[in-house]
Amino acid sequence: MRVLAGETAEVPPVWLMRQAGRYLPEYRKLRESAGSFLDLCYTPELAVEITMQPIRRFDFDAAILFSDILVVPDGMGIGVGFEDGHGPVVDPVRDAGDFRGLDPDRVAGHCAPVYEAVSAIRAALEPEKALIGFAGGVWTVATYAVEGGSSRNFEAVKHWIWSDPAGFDRLIDMLTAATIEHLSCQIDAGADCVQIFESWAGALAEPEFHRYVVAPTRRIVEALRARHETVPVIGFPRAAGRSIDGYAAATGVTAVGLDTGVPLAQAQEIQKSVPVQGNLDPILLAAGGPALAERIAEIRAGLAGGPHIFNLGHGIVPQTPPDHVAELVATLRGEAA
Ligand code: CP3
Repeated sequence: MRVLAGETAEVPPVWLMRQAGRYLPEYRKLRESAGSFLDLCYTPELAVEITMQPIRRFDFDAAILFSDILVVPDGMGIGVGFEDGHGPVVDPVRDAGDFRGLDPDRVAGHCAPVYEAVSAIRAALEPEKALIGFAGGVWTVATYAVEGGSSRNFEAVKHWIWSDPAGFDRLIDMLTAATIEHLSCQIDAGADCVQIFESWAGALAEPEFHRYVVAPTRRIVEALRARHETVPVIGFPRAAGRSIDGYAAATGVTAVGLDTGVPLAQAQEIQKSVPVQGNLDPILLAAGGPALAERIAEIRAGLAGGPHIFNLGHGIVPQTPPDHVAELVATLRGEAA
């Protein structure tokens, strides 16, 4: 929280995107006994336990709520399921005719168990550790809602953008309203800060990047600040390239998460105006060895002159050996793993 407030730390605080999940044997065991992935998200005791697993094992400086970005469309009435090995499967919203029955005001009630988990995690967590709430960026969530799941080329959603921009804007508006409520409820329940995961920001060129990434993020930040004046917001516009440079000023986010592709020289420029978070390659963390140690030192040294939260450039991958994560934390803190 101090680094988010602009302090430069001698040892950078560290957490990892997707730090709770399948690379941990204790997660896989719980997951097997629990039925579906969404049951984990909507059962507070399980969400609390999974959130705490990586904190116990690695002593990270922050916990991130165990949940998913797709609980927001699920709560609005867009059907969401997770199939083993296939990722998310969503009932696609393809045009304004599919809006019938969708209601952003239902998200807060639907996600009550999520907020219950947030309160219980905050109570269980040591006071000096931060609790991070989160939501997907509106554009990223829209890609899943329109494509019906993960996508490579975003053809359906882009066709909609250019054939019926006014209709698509209504979807963006509904998702924005729902996201504001969802984040606000997490903050009310005890989240110390929130992160907006805009994982597919890099799929858009500048005019659409502004309309569907920057503008909704700005609305979310402004609405949150009106209710919770000081809450820090971390924006993560993944793979947005040069568009990341003006993103913090244009959206009002407190800090910027940097993807793996952001060069340290560019990161240093951004760090002159806002704290940065990132950006170790998750595949390098899985690979390990001397290249990993070298890269950790480079990122650390490159961003030591300003506020920096150590993290990956995208989520941790399931094949990551937990030992490599323990080594990363020990290396940063100057301890033996
Ligand atoms: O960071 C954390 O540990 C908190 C939990 C968290 C999850 N998903 C749990 C999860 C967070 C922050 C997310 C964010 C998320 N979810 C994003 C944005 C970040 C990113 O990685 O780009 C996206 C795009 C999703 C949507 C999603 N959820 C997909 C595409 C999938 C399937 C593929 C995959 O990466 O697993 C999920 C499932 C999911 N979300 C799992 C977990 C632990 C795996 C579920 C399982 O056990 O099978």
